[in-house]
Amino acid sequence: MTATATATPSSPLPLARVAARKPAGAAVGIPPRQIDFRFPRDSKRYFFDDNGFSTLFFATLSGFFPPGERFFMDSVRHYRDEISGERLKACISGFMGQEAVHGREHERLNELLSSRGIKVGMAERSVKRALGVLRRFSPAQQLACTIFMEHFTALFAEELLSNQRFRDKVDPQLLHLWVWHALEELEHKAVAYDVYEQVSGSYAHRVMAVPLTAVALVPAIVASMVYLLNADRELFNGAENRRGFRLLFAKRGFIARFMPRMGEFLRRDFHPDDHNTDALVKQWQEKLFGENGSLLEEFRNREALMN
Ligand SMILES: [Fe+2]
Ligand SMILES: [Fe+2]
Repeated sequence: MTATATATPSSPLPLARVAARKPAGAAVGIPPRQIDFRFPRDSKRYFFDDNGFSTLFFATLSGFFPPGERFFMDSVRHYRDEISGERLKACISGFMGQEAVHGREHERLNELLSSRGIKVGMAERSVKRALGVLRRFSPAQQLACTIFMEHFTALFAEELLSNQRFRDKVDPQLLHLWVWHALEELEHKAVAYDVYEQVSGSYAHRVMAVPLTAVALVPAIVASMVYLLNADRELFNGAENRRGFRLLFAKRGFIARFMPRMGEFLRRDFHPDDHNTDALVKQWQEKLFGENGSLLEEFRNREALMN
């Protein structure tokens, strides 16, 4: 187990230790890892089960991530100077560092996909427009939308890291990016929520975040999928589209398995840490960044985080 893997947001450290170590996020279990992927040019075009529909769905999500991560960071950054408490400040620092690298590495994957003619730029543009709509609302409402989307990414991440059957279907060379991102989403899953509780905590804004986010993002997802499927001449490939749809949305499909838990967000006493994922986080910290971790080569600032 690395030194970066010893604490999670739900295992508070004494403030003296938080202050004594750098970077601050690492001391509270949210290490801002500098990960530098080199994607192999020979990985499969349809990296999810050789299926166009499901691959283009994940390509759409990858297109959404760079603008999405910026939206998350901006909505937290707006309140950063108002936050009290050394521990939460350190968590914010880790959150910012992790989300920034997620955006950068997804941009790199998006470049690879674009070079193969999968035009994820369309997904990026459509989500930018959708997030532009959300940016017209108050900072508190934007942060409420962020915590709703962070709830989605945490459930997505938990499913990805728990579901071997799903991971077996992903090209192993590209799977690294998705499991690393998923691990860090679980490490920082409560940060935006804790900021929200301290600066607003409005239940009305939290409830409103659900329809606002859905109305903004669902059309962007559908438009991007139709565009990408059409560009790949897959739009009318009924058999493959049905297979892809089943893989994701049918009863035991990847997304369908965790969607019922999206409703937890509307519980008045909801908190992301209610559902304990510490054991899963530790297991993957060890797998990816432990002594024989599979991503040690890509992990550029390991030494700095271990100080
Ligand atoms: Fe992220
Ligand atoms: Fe996140």
